[in-house]
Amino acid sequence: MSGAARPRVIVTRRLPAAVEDQLKREFDAQLNADDHPFTVAELTNALREADGLLPTVTDRITADVLAAEPLRTKIIANFGVGFNNIDIAAAKARGVVVTNTPDVLTDDTADDAIMLLLMVARRGGEGERHVRAGAWTGWRPTHMLGTKVSGKTLGLVGLGRIARAVARRAKQGFGMRVLFHDPYPPPAAVVAELGAEARADLDTLVRESDFVSLHCPATPETRHLMNARRLALMKPTAFLINTARGDVVDEAALIAALQAATLAGAGLDVYEREPAVSPALLTMENVVLLPHLGSATRETRVAMGERSLENLRAFFSGAAPRDRVA
Ligand code: 8YV
Repeated sequence: MSGAARPRVIVTRRLPAAVEDQLKREFDAQLNADDHPFTVAELTNALREADGLLPTVTDRITADVLAAEPLRTKIIANFGVGFNNIDIAAAKARGVVVTNTPDVLTDDTADDAIMLLLMVARRGGEGERHVRAGAWTGWRPTHMLGTKVSGKTLGLVGLGRIARAVARRAKQGFGMRVLFHDPYPPPAAVVAELGAEARADLDTLVRESDFVSLHCPATPETRHLMNARRLALMKPTAFLINTARGDVVDEAALIAALQAATLAGAGLDVYEREPAVSPALLTMENVVLLPHLGSATRETRVAMGERSLENLRAFFSGAAPRDRVA
């Protein structure tokens, strides 16, 4: 293809160099050299100027942004499996195709959930802070005792790709009993292969679990799914793990529950108002806080970029992108 004929693609954040190089080879790509988060005006302009947009979770593509005139963008190839940063109804209404990057980040995100589970149960973050502060006076039988993980009950909220990868790790690695609740459960054979047990309602799942791990998308239905009432159903010895989206948890209610010690702790990778984290959480030793690291490995970020590229390539060649979500 000649340079002039190549579709114009605006990429909102820095991507691994190999992905940026490939984008430049295949498209008239505009990259974000200083990696600044796009403003609303920049996003709106991008939709006026580009044939394709490659945004990330930090770009809120709202109905207002999608009201851009004249609208040149025909495809939004989101870099990420979650796409709650995009108003899907507005994209559909404007005839803009939306794609995501499933599969390639499943293992890393499952690892992240297990890392949080272990860290919070075994007081990993607290122990590390202790040593770094020079406060460790030496081994003793009663020092910094945590909660045993092996053999405990894990409750998965949702049983999609990532939850299934967590289930395998929990079952095969730690001999955990795995329960799940999913209003759209996978086929019975998949559930049987995992050795997971369904719970018909979320309240029962939450009541029975020693660890509750969230693996549902952020939608209007799942907003504040873990609210004050549901958090109160958790065992006082139980932990909440969130690698999904911050909106699924009422962060203020979680803080209140932790303060009242009606649950034992939380491992969080995502927050309601990222990158802001409620100040109260920063003061709690029984909370592990990570900066949205779910898919943050070199290998996976390259694979996510390749998947976005594949979707753009298919779309502009007139084929159906394999990861179309709208
Ligand atoms: C990404 C994620 O880091 O894919 C997702 O849904 O939350 C993370 O893997 C983020 O979305 C990048 O846009």
